[in-house]
Amino acid sequence: MRFEIGGGMDLIEETVRQFLSDKAKVLDIESTRLHSGYQAVDLFRHRILVESEGRQEYSSVITKMANGIERRVMNRLLDQGANVPFNRAGNLDSDHRVLLCIQDVDYKTNYQNLDIGMLQHKEIQALAYIHNHNRGLQEELSWLPRVSRTYIETIIHGVWRPAWEEAKHNERFVETFGTYMSEIDAVSGKIVDELEAVWKDETTHTLIHNDLNPGNVLVHNNDDVMFIDWEEARYGSLFLDIPMRFDRSQVGEYREVLASLGWVLPADTFGQSYRAASWYLGLRYMTWSLGAWLRDPGTEAGLRRFLDMVVV
Ligand SMILES: Nc1ncnc2c1ncn2[C@@H]1O[C@H](COP(=O)(O)OP(=O)(O)O)[C@@H](O)[C@H]1O
Ligand SMILES: [Mg+2]
Repeated sequence: MRFEIGGGMDLIEETVRQFLSDKAKVLDIESTRLHSGYQAVDLFRHRILVESEGRQEYSSVITKMANGIERRVMNRLLDQGANVPFNRAGNLDSDHRVLLCIQDVDYKTNYQNLDIGMLQHKEIQALAYIHNHNRGLQEELSWLPRVSRTYIETIIHGVWRPAWEEAKHNERFVETFGTYMSEIDAVSGKIVDELEAVWKDETTHTLIHNDLNPGNVLVHNNDDVMFIDWEEARYGSLFLDIPMRFDRSQVGEYREVLASLGWVLPADTFGQSYRAASWYLGLRYMTWSLGAWLRDPGTEAGLRRFLDMVVV
């Protein structure tokens, strides 16, 4: 497919020169549209043939029409040496969607052959680094949106609840997941209030990703983890990130790493905040899984994971 987004070729060449080799030339390019995630924005993978100092080599980059938040956060985190792919945008200022060229994180990754334990430790380090590096910066990061009660209410009552009510009218759902129902109903009635104390607690505020679904955490070359898709980033409580990635048995290590970086979170409120955030994230990410399971019972494990986040 020819790549026809205005200025795209120039941006790809500039990105290659900035990050691969300053003498590089793109000789050939083959572009395919990627299935995007929830936002359905224009997303392409470009296989490029690059020549530099007489040598030719294939490489790969992604382009995305990214919002202003994502472009600025990706640029900032790259400067901080955080675990994000290299990236370059023609423009960081505008709030409109503008083309962002991003390192293709996982085109060389073999997902069948991963050392999960090693990657888990690296991910804990990488997320703790980002959280710690950007705390106490509410003024510098004033361009990032904040979490609000309306934001949480919309996710729970506007988005999750209709999907949940629909599922509860499905006989197969009641048969399979009936034992979860009363507890989840009880949690959903109190979660907006319970979570308020968590997201308002400024002592836990930093740059958060706020959408750490599995599609946004990729493995690079089988030896490291990178976070992509910073479009939903907020300045808010780190608890809104951690239960998505670290279960109860792993979160202790995250806390220790954070403490070793100099950020000690009080022990008395940690468990409670983690639990409220886990409820909220379980409900939020269950929404999509409910619809998927109603269409295809083979997706049961995915749905059960989010149900379990709410009943612990
Ligand atoms: N830099 C990248 N490297 C490899 N794959 C990517 C990259 N960016 C996006 N993708 C792929 O495209 C999917 C959607 O991109 P993402 O940036 O998450 O957009 P959306 O906002 O649509 O979720 C990702 O889940 C991933 O599979
Ligand atoms: Mg995504």
